Amino acid sequence: MSHIQIPPGLTELLQGYTVEVLRQQPPDLVDFAVDYFTRLREARSRASTPPAAPPSGSQGLEPGPGLVADAIADSESEDEEDLDVPVPNRFDRRVSVCAETYNPDEEEEDTDPRVIHPKTDQQRCRLQEACKDILLFKNLDQEQLSQVLDAMFERTVKVDEHVIDQGDDGDNFYVIERGTYDILVTKDNHTRSVGQYDNHGSFGELALMYNTPRAATIVATSEGSLWGLDRVTFRRIIVKNNAKKRKMFESFIESVLLLKSLEVSERMKIVDVIGEKVYKDGERIITQTKANKDGGNQEVEIARCHEGQYFGELALVTNKPRAASAYAVGDVKCLVMDVQAFERLLGPCMDIMKRNISHYEEQLVKMFGSSMDLIDPGQ
Ligand code: CMP
Repeated sequence: MSHIQIPPGLTELLQGYTVEVLRQQPPDLVDFAVDYFTRLREARSRASTPPAAPPSGSQGLEPGPGLVADAIADSESEDEEDLDVPVPNRFDRRVSVCAETYNPDEEEEDTDPRVIHPKTDQQRCRLQEACKDILLFKNLDQEQLSQVLDAMFERTVKVDEHVIDQGDDGDNFYVIERGTYDILVTKDNHTRSVGQYDNHGSFGELALMYNTPRAATIVATSEGSLWGLDRVTFRRIIVKNNAKKRKMFESFIESVLLLKSLEVSERMKIVDVIGEKVYKDGERIITQTKANKDGGNQEVEIARCHEGQYFGELALVTNKPRAASAYAVGDVKCLVMDVQAFERLLGPCMDIMKRNISHYEEQLVKMFGSSMDLIDPGQ
């Protein structure tokens, strides 16, 4: 069998570029590539780290952008970052905006002082309640979770307050305790609302995870209360933990057919936002929100999903209520993704999922003998 050798650094190089294309959706991929790689080369010279001698056959691609990003990040100490000095052009500081790799095997000794914001019992209770469904916290062990909760601080916000501004460097990750928030994205000088948070959820993880500028502006549309987690603690605990999670789920994610059309970097991001949930035999996983027209109150099995398959996407793709309930047959372990992350990450898979809608319809037609809507909104 012949082996094709992938030059060191190539994967990271292309991943970095792909992540940026997906983020910025440039009109011209070639122009964007020229700009992106030119900036990357400039960043590499600025980092003044002499490039490692490329191994023979690597065509001078070393170091890859991941390494360049790390070199830049290293050249700005964490202290420097925290200094509140005006930055002439923030995009110049962290030019290489690519998914930063974190290798848990190369873990450095954890010597940073712990951040602790003392809380009253009542605050701690409210914080625990707000954090109980946050996916990024789901894989933490007891000790990690308690360090995270210790480090979190309360921030109250007023109507119209900007919690995050697109393009800024990431300082904190936020968990919502209460309040409504608009998510605004500006592209080509045009700002549009891409979603809202309504009294629960979290935001601000992207810039901290991938060392990129803030991807959206978050504005409070009511008075609200948030719990913030500083960048250093977030990276020390959540990002480190996620790197381990990546290792655990990587091969499973690769085997999911739907996700095959995604780039490697996007698949990695999926691992970052999924959580694990276990269900007992017979337990309901999804609840149908309206009765099926012809099925009446009686539930009929329409399909069975097995390892590597997915469900629950239909309501998200069509913006309609849940069209069917799902129950565990035997003990079941699911990987779960929240709606916001689903929309952000699986946008590229929408077409594939839409194709599946006709497949579901076919199944119902077979059962009930005539074509019909999955849901009758009048029922
Ligand atoms: P971050 O880029 O750190 O800051 C803005 C946050 O908005 C981002 O992390 C996400 O948590 C959140 N967000 C929600 N929806 C989107 C979206 N469609 N695009 C980008 N960011 C989003």
